[in-house]
Amino acid sequence: MTEISREERQRGRRVGLVPTMGALHGGHLSLVSRARTECDMVVLSIFVNPQQFNPSEDYEHYPRDLARDAGLAAGAGVGILFCPGPEQIHVPGHATWIEVERLGDVMCGPRRPGHFRAVVTVVAKLFGIVRPQVAYFGQKDAQQLRMIRRMARDLHQEVAIVGCRTVREKDGLALSSRNAYLTPEERRTAPVLNRALVAAQATVRAGEKDTGRLVEQIRATLETEPLVRIDYVEAVDDETLAPVTAIEGRILLAVAAFIGKARLIDNIIIEH
Ligand code: PAJ
Repeated sequence: MTEISREERQRGRRVGLVPTMGALHGGHLSLVSRARTECDMVVLSIFVNPQQFNPSEDYEHYPRDLARDAGLAAGAGVGILFCPGPEQIHVPGHATWIEVERLGDVMCGPRRPGHFRAVVTVVAKLFGIVRPQVAYFGQKDAQQLRMIRRMARDLHQEVAIVGCRTVREKDGLALSSRNAYLTPEERRTAPVLNRALVAAQATVRAGEKDTGRLVEQIRATLETEPLVRIDYVEAVDDETLAPVTAIEGRILLAVAAFIGKARLIDNIIIEH
């Protein structure tokens, strides 16, 4: 992978990387199409990173279907499908971790101990192997995107990080590999996450500036659905991820909720 990428760069070609854990869907493919418009060669990596799953999470059962993913990747114009094994990414005896301070203190950070350091570390390793000029990430995972941007900047990585908007089903549900865990009834409930965020955005447009009241409004909307168990609803500054009490600048409203076996996340950016 490293050799191919080096040759591409020497020929003046721009290499774009789309890191994924497979189970490809329209969200992943939107990153690929953006990469295709900006790069000469698109590398899509599939690596289900064991270290970013907590013991209680779904690593063993995470959906895996390489044949299907390979077909979707080829159809989307991926030049190289990079599927390393665990020992190629985490070489035996590896001892280095990347910790992004503060940005992990909110939202999913405290609820998934060790998750983000594993994500940021694996992404840095992928950057080291693939050496892309550009890498593409989804806004759906807003906290992940923010931490990767910060890591790339702080470590002087020669890679531009591009954030791409969240792709949704017609009813507003953000595409996610974890939607596959939903029963039909749970699936009908799931769009409430997006609906609650969009309603809060409308409230801001109508003049609301207090994030406490917005968070309460979002919680109340989510609580109308008995199948939904709220994990968190938070309002933070989109750059620093520090909690905010008033809508000022770019604010990230973020939710996480369990519906059945699935833990779903969603967010919306509010600008004022
Ligand atoms: P994964 O969940 O497979 O997601 C891969 C990329 O697709 C991420 O950048 C994610 O934000 C983006 N994505 C997922 N759903 C999306 C949607 N509905 N719209 C737009 N983009 C979407 O995120 C990971 O994998 C891993 O943590 C990884 C970065 C690969 C590190 O292991």
